Amino acid sequence: MKRKKRGLPRHLLVTAGPTREPIDPVRFISNMSTGTLGYDIARLAQKAGYRVTLISGPTGLEAPKGVTRIQVETAADMEKAVLKVFPRADGLIMSAAVADFRPVRVAARKIKRSGVPGSLRLMQLELVENEDILARVSELKRPKQVIIGFALETERLIPNARGKMRSKGLDAIVATLLSARDRSKGPFGDLPVNGAILWATGQVHSFRREPKNRLAKRILKTMDALLSRKNGS
Ligand code: CTP
Repeated sequence: MKRKKRGLPRHLLVTAGPTREPIDPVRFISNMSTGTLGYDIARLAQKAGYRVTLISGPTGLEAPKGVTRIQVETAADMEKAVLKVFPRADGLIMSAAVADFRPVRVAARKIKRSGVPGSLRLMQLELVENEDILARVSELKRPKQVIIGFALETERLIPNARGKMRSKGLDAIVATLLSARDRSKGPFGDLPVNGAILWATGQVHSFRREPKNRLAKRILKTMDALLSRKNGS
């Protein structure tokens, strides 16, 4: 998988981890993403000779050696960073678990309890959808650039993922299934995953109980193949 070309190395943009959407100065909503898969992809790509930029939400992970990491908090921050770097990248692997919603208002001060003993206050949080980063970035895509996205589904894995691939203008999508049995643990962290990589051209490559580091290799190979196909090398 060595990718040192005669000219400049290819530039790969990888996003990873969750985003955090603030509620007040000490609280946020987020998700269970650990960033493991995105960091594995970034590490492997750097070793394979890519120049790698990793845009990461908050994780406890160290930046892989030789990788340029841009750390962000919110989906809006991630969107800004992705739109800035993408025009200079050959490929994008969007493995971040971007929060779909954010609070409409962020309280300037910590929201307090009612303070009345025995009275349990009903609290409502109004949320608004975040921009779909992949859909926005794919509008900027040049013909030789490659975008791989992800789909996390609890049902109808292949049709749902295929729909996302089309609506977001992707070259391939990594579809992972969160089965009822896995739901307590989730697809996050080091657990093996079930699913398939779908190509816009129609191929489907299924995988079962795939460890994250093997899945990272598979995704990078897909990026290699798609870049070669579009750029003829
Ligand atoms: N994604 C994105 N911007 C968002 C939400 C998701 O770019 N605001 C990207 C994710 O990084 C992933 C892909 O879109 O690569 C699919 O994410 P997923 O959560 O499976 O799908 P959604 O489009 O959010 O659809 P839904 O939650 O309704 O299934």
